[in-house]
Amino acid sequence: MTVKVTFVCLGNICRSPMADGVFQKLVNEAGLQEQILVDSAGTSSYHMGEQAHPGTRNELKKHGIVYNGRSRQINHADNNPHTYLIAMDESNLSDLIRAFGQREKTYRLLDFAAQTNEKNVPDPYYVGGFDYVYNLVADGCAGLLAFIRQEEGL
Ligand code: 4NP
Repeated sequence: MTVKVTFVCLGNICRSPMADGVFQKLVNEAGLQEQILVDSAGTSSYHMGEQAHPGTRNELKKHGIVYNGRSRQINHADNNPHTYLIAMDESNLSDLIRAFGQREKTYRLLDFAAQTNEKNVPDPYYVGGFDYVYNLVADGCAGLLAFIRQEEGL
């Protein structure tokens, strides 16, 4: 059984690409690339087709991750029962629920974080703080992978 994990933020250029790159690395290290597909999307179309923000790409590069994804907007094909939709903040989460209704496998990333009480990954687009975003995302991604492995028996 293949599952998919799609990380979701507003623009798909800062936070969800960070999570996409970090989670893909964890999946690769676990040898689960065939079982867990990873991507990301934005609730908006503001930056469709653009590369990730330099702040995100540089932060990922510092951690040995090369990210080449392009921004895309979430669409109905993402509402698949085998897809985990992982929102970066409560606004993304409510947008997802508005678009697809209450569904299984819709979560907020930091629900899986062990080392922070934050529930929302702050948006670095206007104010920066990509290193802080990385730390939160890495924490959440580690917990998320453990959760999915348990849920899916992987
Ligand atoms: P992201 O950050 O949702 O983490 O990709 C943003 C990117 C662009 C905008 C807002 C947030 N924007 O308003 O264009």
